[in-house]
Amino acid sequence: MKTPLAAPFPASRFRRLRQTPALRDLVRETTLSTGDFIWPVFVRDGTGVEEPIASMPGVIRRSVDKIVEAAREAHALGIPAVCLFPYTDPALKTEDCAEAWNPENLSNRATRAIKDAVPDIAVMTDVALDPYNINGHDGFVEDGYVVNDRTVEALVKQALSQARAGSDIIGPSDMMDGRIGALRQALEGAGHQNVTLLSYAAKYASAFYGPFRDAVGASGALKGDKKTYQMDPANSDEAMRLIARDLSEGADMVMVKPGMPYLDICRRAKDTFGVPTYAYQVSGEYAMIAGAAERGWIDGEKAMLESLTAFRRAGCDGILTYFAPAAARILNG
Ligand code: PBG
Repeated sequence: MKTPLAAPFPASRFRRLRQTPALRDLVRETTLSTGDFIWPVFVRDGTGVEEPIASMPGVIRRSVDKIVEAAREAHALGIPAVCLFPYTDPALKTEDCAEAWNPENLSNRATRAIKDAVPDIAVMTDVALDPYNINGHDGFVEDGYVVNDRTVEALVKQALSQARAGSDIIGPSDMMDGRIGALRQALEGAGHQNVTLLSYAAKYASAFYGPFRDAVGASGALKGDKKTYQMDPANSDEAMRLIARDLSEGADMVMVKPGMPYLDICRRAKDTFGVPTYAYQVSGEYAMIAGAAERGWIDGEKAMLESLTAFRRAGCDGILTYFAPAAARILNG
């Protein structure tokens, strides 16, 4: 859109429309509501366990029973979806990552428990091998390289086990080539026509994932970096090509990740494709706001709402954010 010419001052005074809350309400261009959130939660073994994560103040790992309570609370707040990330027992991490498609793994147990207790909340699950991989990578490592095609075969097994457990939204966060097409074909073939794919289409090799790797226990395990499969933060055209590719292979929704440093990518994606577009406000972004607020350096609530509004302004239909319940409580008054 071309910015229209404004009348010269004093005929035009922009401050007229900023005078009162009523006028500001009337001219607000974007809205933020609890229906915009997907809440990422961390699952661990045990019963009755709620364990804080040091690098993410206010975020906890929960055992399955506590995840069900959290899902119930999220649903009551009007949050449409939770996204599960398992903190896997290090003893179950192997080179073949077989735990990833174990029907009884933490993610699948949590999915079934939530769908039993709170059937109306959507459950999103993560497709990638890093929580199960002895070396912390999202795919199989051969001679120091994360191999693509063999990884995609494993991701298909993982996604099918998630669909069988009742996952509504499958989120491949692995960045292998060709996985969206392979997953879509496998889901169709197995009768899971209505399982949706939210592709982490433009996922960057980012320093902002650090606290997440602590939260899922992958930090110690990870050898090297993820630059051979995640995107170079310097690229934008490539993000458009990846999104186009994933849509052509059957993605229903696309994601840009991280969020705040990549709002230009969100806007460009929404303008180019007009499809349901999400941003992931990742762990490091959360930690910057929550950590600074904890020290009294910023007003945490205001910074949270401002950051979430920025995603909507940039064209995002929704936001994966650890702030989801806190923001929902404020938005619900
Ligand atoms: C890995 C995965 C990561 C996140 C979600 N899935 C980290 C990574 O790629 O190393 C990051 C989320 C966050 O930082 O909040 N498959």
